[in-house]
Amino acid sequence: MKVITVINAKGGCGKSTIAMNLACGLAREGRVLLLDMDPQAQVTQWLKAGDGLTATGTLLSALTGQQTLREVIQSTQFENLSFVASADGLEDLGRQITEHEGYSSLLSQLLATESLAPDFDFLVIDSPNQISPIMENAIFPADLFIVPFESTKAVRSYASFFKLLLRLRPAGDYGILHVLSNLTRLPGLRARVLSLMEQDSIARAQTEIRSCGWLAQVDEFGGSIFQFRPFAKGALDMAQLVEEVRGLFSLPTNGHSPTPEAALTDSVSIL
Ligand SMILES: Nc1ncnc2c1ncn2[C@@H]1O[C@H](COP(=O)(O)OP(=O)(O)OP(=O)(O)O)[C@@H](O)[C@H]1O
Ligand SMILES: [Mg+2]
Repeated sequence: MKVITVINAKGGCGKSTIAMNLACGLAREGRVLLLDMDPQAQVTQWLKAGDGLTATGTLLSALTGQQTLREVIQSTQFENLSFVASADGLEDLGRQITEHEGYSSLLSQLLATESLAPDFDFLVIDSPNQISPIMENAIFPADLFIVPFESTKAVRSYASFFKLLLRLRPAGDYGILHVLSNLTRLPGLRARVLSLMEQDSIARAQTEIRSCGWLAQVDEFGGSIFQFRPFAKGALDMAQLVEEVRGLFSLPTNGHSPTPEAALTDSVSIL
């Protein structure tokens, strides 16, 4: 089971949108478990899998030992996609667990002791936007991090996440994809972000998730652009991200060609 955490210490940069759609895309070719680790529970709401408040049947209940992780896995409307819901109490739990030694690896320990790996090809984690003990748990088991950049602020916030990453994973046994996200919504923004990334020597992923108005309206369709608007550029970009991720893990890809650079102009276009 490959673990992919979508993360940055910046709100609204596209983490949940990417986690949801990456999971849906990967589920077209394998068994995927999507884990909502954000107390705001955005993905949980898309999947109508909880109210964000009730702890029973959620990750919160598993992390506090009231239920096993296996017991809180739910099926979804999407084939091959299973899900663990979040609850807003995760934030409080984060504050409490710091008293225990090894609290950062609580999730990793559950994954290992319950032997979930053989049941899934991928685990996709949506993480909170704040540096926190819960974020640490999202970092600990990851093989690959996907870090969306939707503003110059997101490039700056990356430093706080990266510092935490270096502390928690000193062996460096992971990959990182820095993904431009929703930058074509404003003229000049993409160029400013690219220049800042270059200045900080941050390599960017081949895939870019362009601004796509349909991506911002996926709520009624369980969060999946593939179901809602399969031919929108948001769906094409997400499909390309799936291919790039599979390629990183040396898994067969369907030959989806990278988005031509010409299509990634700095023009404002959101649909
Ligand atoms: N490529 C895109 N094109 C247009 N809108 C987008 C795109 N990506 C994300 N959005 C919109 O931007 C907003 C923030 O996205 P999202 O919720 O995925 O970010 P987030 O990083 O998970 O936020 P938070 O830190 O609050 O959890 C949402 O309204 C979403 O619909
Ligand atoms: Mg989110």
